[in-house]
Amino acid sequence: EFKGSSIRLLDADTRSLQSGITTSDAVLEETAETEFVLRGAERYVPRLEQLALHEVAPSRRTLETARDSSNFAVTMTGPGTIDNIVLREIADPELAPNEVMVEVAAVGLNFRDIMAATSILPDELENDEAYWRNLGLEFAGTVRKVGDRVTNLKPGDRIMGMGKGYLRRFAKIRADLAMRVPDGIDLIEAATLPTAFLTAHYALTHIGRLAEDETALIHLASGGVGLAAIQVAHDVGARVFGTAGSDTKRAFLKKWGVDEVMNSRALDFADEVRSLTRGRGVDVVLNALSGNGIDKSLECLAPFGRMVEIGKRDLADDKPIGLRSLYRNNAYSVIDLSTLPVEREKLFRQLLAEVEAKVAAGAYKPLEASRFPASRAAEAMRMLSRALHIGKVIVTFDEPSVDIELDLGAQFAVSAQASYLVTGGLKGFGVAIADWLSQKGAGTIILANRSGVPDAEAAAAIDIMEQRGTRIIRAALDVTDAAAVDRLIEEHAAGDAPLRGIVHGAAVIEDAFVSQLDAGKIDRVLRPKITGGWNLHVAVVEHDVPLDFFVNFSSIAQVIGSSGQANYTAANSVLNAIATYRRGRNLAGSSAAWGMIAGSGFVARSEAMTNYLDSVGIKPVQDSEAAAALSYLLRARSENLGFANIDWAAIARTNPGAATNPRISPLLGDRTGGRSRIQTELAAAPREAWDDLLADMIRREVAKVLKVEAIALADDRKLSELGLDSLSSFELKNRVEAQVEVDIPVAKFLQAPTIA
Ligand SMILES: NC(=O)c1ccc[n+]([C@@H]2O[C@H](COP(=O)([O-])OP(=O)(O)OC[C@H]3O[C@@H](n4cnc5c(N)ncnc54)[C@H](OP(=O)(O)O)[C@@H]3O)[C@@H](O)[C@H]2O)c1
Repeated sequence: EFKGSSIRLLDADTRSLQSGITTSDAVLEETAETEFVLRGAERYVPRLEQLALHEVAPSRRTLETARDSSNFAVTMTGPGTIDNIVLREIADPELAPNEVMVEVAAVGLNFRDIMAATSILPDELENDEAYWRNLGLEFAGTVRKVGDRVTNLKPGDRIMGMGKGYLRRFAKIRADLAMRVPDGIDLIEAATLPTAFLTAHYALTHIGRLAEDETALIHLASGGVGLAAIQVAHDVGARVFGTAGSDTKRAFLKKWGVDEVMNSRALDFADEVRSLTRGRGVDVVLNALSGNGIDKSLECLAPFGRMVEIGKRDLADDKPIGLRSLYRNNAYSVIDLSTLPVEREKLFRQLLAEVEAKVAAGAYKPLEASRFPASRAAEAMRMLSRALHIGKVIVTFDEPSVDIELDLGAQFAVSAQASYLVTGGLKGFGVAIADWLSQKGAGTIILANRSGVPDAEAAAAIDIMEQRGTRIIRAALDVTDAAAVDRLIEEHAAGDAPLRGIVHGAAVIEDAFVSQLDAGKIDRVLRPKITGGWNLHVAVVEHDVPLDFFVNFSSIAQVIGSSGQANYTAANSVLNAIATYRRGRNLAGSSAAWGMIAGSGFVARSEAMTNYLDSVGIKPVQDSEAAAALSYLLRARSENLGFANIDWAAIARTNPGAATNPRISPLLGDRTGGRSRIQTELAAAPREAWDDLLADMIRREVAKVLKVEAIALADDRKLSELGLDSLSSFELKNRVEAQVEVDIPVAKFLQAPTIA
């Protein structure tokens, strides 16, 4: 409100005041800082930090697997880059009567996992079942529990199978979809079997109908499906040709008994096939090549030849093929194993039985594999994404101890045998909070305002909570009345449903510019928040109430400043201080600074206020979502947290005071004034310098993707030689796009694979 003047806050202790220089420095210094804490010779300045919800309490623990049977998953904080892989504690699976819980020994990774992790599977990203949260399509492990109706398996049985979300210590599978692992194959080896052999067996014997006197051409034969297909073809008695993309891989295939080995990266394999077969061609092609590789493979078909497609890219791109290539009684079939369990369950079960029998008979053997323990799952994903491996890449769950993130959201619990007080709970956002407590299983909720009477919306919500079985007490309580607060707390301090949590949401809003504020406006806004909060604190201390939480409701206005709300921000600042004061005394204490709440509360009731906040970059968060965020905020290590949806670029535009304040600018992170680091650099530099700046930025991002030193990356070095392939290109694309905010087709990264 006072743009021309500079106001500084100083918090000095006696020692710092004695060394007067520091103090006058803080007052007179030419600096953008506006707040200082002086402690002796030390000077502290505040900085805000922006975190995703699950990061607010990044508590981790070491899980000793021998002693602790907690579950954890290899999952992601979000899709886009493999860097986002984390190990996180999760609940045990809930078993349906026909399911078993399996302790996973190892998981085979598949390209679909990489595609999900790097967001190439966009359709599946939206809901809770998002693929990137549930990586791992196949496993081998030991049955630990069985559902009530399971008769074919018992605890201790060794099984393998496929599905979704197996990159976790304890998972579940329908008992009739599991295959047994025979004695003599260890579980880690067994994890190489399911998808590779189910795919190869289905492709070659069912769809390809490969016969004893025939020849099969297996593309990318050194991969998981490829190596399995060689075994399947040999089991049938067929002759096998194979292609692979490197000398090492081709040498490996020769050792493995592939009759003829060719290069998958050159298109002359078709000529080679023709000359090796005296112009006749092969009977079955198992294809995973894309583009021209498809046309060339079709050229390899003998009369009555069958091509079985397991690639996806050209189907998605709707690549045309010439029908003449099928002229001589040929067939071109596409298979996608992942749809079988849903759309052809009987056939899928038949495949499971056939592969299980072949494995038991020793006809299908575990594949060559690279192994990584779960704590190094990201490395495993990178290896697979760069296609440097032979056979399978396996993630094992055999470490004696693993460092995992705690699942704070799931761990926050309220009790059915306790009561919880929500001040301001008979109207507005407090009702949404009460509903959340009720859904979490709170036994009794005391909702208080001055009259004890809910408004119409609250009354309807209370009906629902009561139907759910929550006991609701409507209390007439003026929180500014210390004696009344004391009586209410005393009444609920002990007994059948002792008080265990307080949400202090009572508030009166009377916005006015500083020049218009009078004693009444200040008093009416400050008292319910400050006096009310303090009265609650004094009463719970007085009656010795051991609270699990005591949270004051503050506002983002307090965090970034807000014209016309000096009284409100002052009140909220004191609520923060009360939370800090309580924490300092080892008592439960938090303050939650909310952004714009949609669905209920004083902002939602005012269209003008909603539009204004939206225009300055404070975007709505649904009340139920905000309430659910409390699960995290209340367990966080820091007592003063905000939860808001903010468009920082808009804040920087409309609130220059906030954007230039060093307390807030870290929130803009690499995005000073709404811009990324590179955007700021470009804006400040002459046109001639842009190429170098952009090259530096790309070099930094390449270094992150390829996990190499940026300094070692020459501009003209081919990125493909450093390991950049189609999948890591996607990761690079995501990163570069985030910096420059321009859509870049991934082909650009593939076509011009140098930094220059
Ligand atoms: N809504 C938002 O977008 C938003 C954003 C940031 C922060 N917040 C914070 O969230 C809290 C709830 O906001 P809201 O939007 O739900 O406000 P609201 O709808 O105006 O509700 C405020 C409640 O406080 C009660 N109250 C006021 N003075 C009281 C007193 N002396 N004793 C007991 N109760 C009293 C009011 O009831 P009576 O007047 O009937 O007593 C009313 O039920 C506030 O602390 C607010 O600062 C809200």
